[in-house]
Amino acid sequence: MKIHSSAYWTNYFTNNAKIMRLDWTIKPEISDLEKQKILKSLQAWQLGETSEGKHLIHASKKYARAINDDEYLNAVSLFIKEEQKHGNNLGKYLDLIEEKRIKNDWGDTLFRKIRYFNTNMELWTIAVITVESAAQIFYQALKDATNCTLLKQICTDILIDEAAHITFQRERLYIIFNQKSAFSKWITYHAYSCFFICTSLVVWLAHKTLFKAGKLNFYRYINKMKFKLGKVAGKSVLYEKEEQPGLSFKELNQNLL
Ligand SMILES: [Fe+2]
Ligand SMILES: [Fe+2]
Repeated sequence: MKIHSSAYWTNYFTNNAKIMRLDWTIKPEISDLEKQKILKSLQAWQLGETSEGKHLIHASKKYARAINDDEYLNAVSLFIKEEQKHGNNLGKYLDLIEEKRIKNDWGDTLFRKIRYFNTNMELWTIAVITVESAAQIFYQALKDATNCTLLKQICTDILIDEAAHITFQRERLYIIFNQKSAFSKWITYHAYSCFFICTSLVVWLAHKTLFKAGKLNFYRYINKMKFKLGKVAGKSVLYEKEEQPGLSFKELNQNLL
């Protein structure tokens, strides 16, 4: 696998933040029927995307210090900012269609509780990867469930960002995974898969109305999630050799020993 340095990611997020892909002069056009099917999920994801990221910053600070890579903390801070941009855009859209931004959602509360107690970078990384993977399917389904040009644009912008988020987190998971012994790797590989699939099921239960509106049934949804699992934490990915010898992974490896 090709591992990019933290400086690369800082640079990427800085540049991506300058690209404006949305045209807010477009008037939102959403039918009542569409609203009925997507509103609850839209509100829930808007809330989920607006987290301050305090706990992730705390875990990243601890981790960055341990691996002696201050730049990693900067990259994570910019990553959080990008998530907040998603929350802001979805919030702005809700304001435009005169629907409220919610303050509570059971899925969000559950995830926040888990985040509260989590200071471990590995747990953070697999949790974020899982949610990002579900997000890709969610925003594609949302895009397919509406004819509103502005909402479609918002989804496209998020989907572009999320693809890079997954690469960013997948590289970190690979680095952390490859610090482990063979036995520990074997256990962890199964634990990742189990967590990923269980979380996928929870996401389906919470948002099935929207997924169905986006023409996804359970079978197609879970197959897409399984495919994504293979790409981020499959055996061939986690056990793959690093592509560029001598780059950051070797240095990080030495720092962690
Ligand atoms: Fe996001
Ligand atoms: Fe993301």
